Amino acid sequence: MSGSLNITSATVDPALLDLPWNLPLDTWPDSVIAALPKGISRHLVRFVHLSGYVIAIKETSSELARREYEMLRTLQKLDVPCVDPVAVITNRTDDEGNELDSVLVTRHLKFSLPYRALYSQTLRPDTATRTVDALAVLLVRLHMIGFFWGDVSLSNTLFRRDAGSFAAYLVDAETGQLYNGLSNGQRENDLEIARINIAGELLDLAAGGRLDEEVDPVEVSNGIVAAYRTLWIELTGSESFSSSERWRINERVERLNELGFDIEELAIKTDDTGSQVRIQPKVVDAGHHQRRLLRLTGLDAQENQARRLLNDLDSYTATFNKQGEDEEMVAHEWLAKVFEPVIRAIPRELKGRLEPAEVFHQLLDHRWYLSQNENRDVPLAEAVSSYIDTVLRHRRDEATVIAPATGTITLPVDIIAEDDWRAKV
Ligand SMILES: Nc1ncnc2c1ncn2[C@@H]1O[C@H](COP(=O)(O)OP(=O)(O)OP(=O)(O)O)[C@@H](O)[C@H]1O
Ligand SMILES: [Mg+2]
Repeated sequence: MSGSLNITSATVDPALLDLPWNLPLDTWPDSVIAALPKGISRHLVRFVHLSGYVIAIKETSSELARREYEMLRTLQKLDVPCVDPVAVITNRTDDEGNELDSVLVTRHLKFSLPYRALYSQTLRPDTATRTVDALAVLLVRLHMIGFFWGDVSLSNTLFRRDAGSFAAYLVDAETGQLYNGLSNGQRENDLEIARINIAGELLDLAAGGRLDEEVDPVEVSNGIVAAYRTLWIELTGSESFSSSERWRINERVERLNELGFDIEELAIKTDDTGSQVRIQPKVVDAGHHQRRLLRLTGLDAQENQARRLLNDLDSYTATFNKQGEDEEMVAHEWLAKVFEPVIRAIPRELKGRLEPAEVFHQLLDHRWYLSQNENRDVPLAEAVSSYIDTVLRHRRDEATVIAPATGTITLPVDIIAEDDWRAKV
C-alpha cells in the first residue's frame, strides 16, 4: 500500500489497514467483497468483509465523506436509528501515485434490507403501506431532533422486520442538516420530498413489473403524509380540558406509551381561574417497550418485537399467578424457561434467517394459527418444531442475503448462512 493513507475513526479496527485501499473500489477482488442487496445510489457502494462483520464502503469526495461521517455520529448520539459510521479514509493513491476517491465506511446494518429486497416477486399493498409507515415514524423522529433530511426516499432507508411491521433506519445522511428545531415549512418541505420520491420509486417498480397491480403508487406515497401528520400531532400537539378531567394527563401518557414513546417532559399549564388545564409533551423519547424489555431481560429488540415479547411475559406472569412477585425475577424466569429454549431449539444452519426476537414473534403467531386450526391449546414446544419445519426452513437468509448488484435484484436469491461467511473471513 502506498503513501500516507489518512484514516479518521473513533474506534480503529486494525483490520481496516489490510484492505486494498490502493485499488479503485470497483476493482476490489471478490475475496473481500460481500454480495448483499443494496439500494440504488449515485456513488459506488460495496460491502466488504472485515474481521467478522461486514462494512459498507462508499467512494465519494473527502468533504462529503467527512461531513456524512460527522452527521451520522451526531445522529447516533441522539439515538436516531441510522447506520453506524466506522471511518473516513482520505489521501488514497494507487501504486502509480494517482489519487483515488475518499471513502466513507459504515457498518453494514445486520438483518436490514433495502426496500427492493423486502419481497420476492412483487411489492404487495400491505408491505408497501408498512414500509411507508415505518419511514413516517423515522421522519417524525428525525424532525423532532431538528434534522432536515432533504433526500427522504425508500432508497435512502433500510428496513428491519419488526413483529409484522418494519423499523426504518436512515442510511444516507449526505444532504441532511441539523437545526435547533425545524419550522413547519421545513418539515413540509421534507414531507413533500418524501411523497414525490416514494411515488417515483413505486412507479419505477411498476414499470419493471415488480409492483403488485393493486398498489396505487400515488395513494401509497400520499400515505406517508397522513401517517406522519397523525404521529406528529400525537407526539407534539397540545390539548386542553377542564381541571376536573385530570385523568386525561395519564391517558395522554398511556397513548404515547402505546405508540412506543415515553414522555420525558410534559408542560402542564392552568389558566388564571384554574378551571382549564393545557398539556403538551415537550420531550419524548422513542423506545418505550424496547427500554422496558432491555431493563427486565437484557434483550435488545425492535419496538414492536419488544411489545410482543413483553405481552408474552405478562401472560406468563398471569398464567403462573406471579403478579405479586418481583417483576425482574419473573422476567428472568420467563427468559430462562420460555424465550431461551425456543432460540436454542433453532438449528444452527437456520440462525441467520431472522433475528431471535422476530423468530419468537412469528412463533407466537404460528402457535395461534395451529391452535385455531386444531381447536386446542398447542404447547409451545410442539409449535416450535412445526414452525421450524414449515416456516423458518423455507425462508431465505436475511442476516446476509446474496443477491445480484444494485438495480438488478431478481429473486430467488441464493442463500448463505451467517456462520458460513464468517468462516470464510
Ligand atoms: N451501512 C450500510 N448497511 C447496509 N446497506 C448500506 C449501508 N451503507 C450503504 N448501504 C446501501 O448502499 C446504498 C447506497 O448508499 P447511499 O444512499 O449512502 O449512497 P449515495 O450514493 O449517497 O446515494 P444517493 O444516490 O441517494 O446520493 C443504500 O441504499 C443501501 O442500500
Ligand atoms: Mg442514497
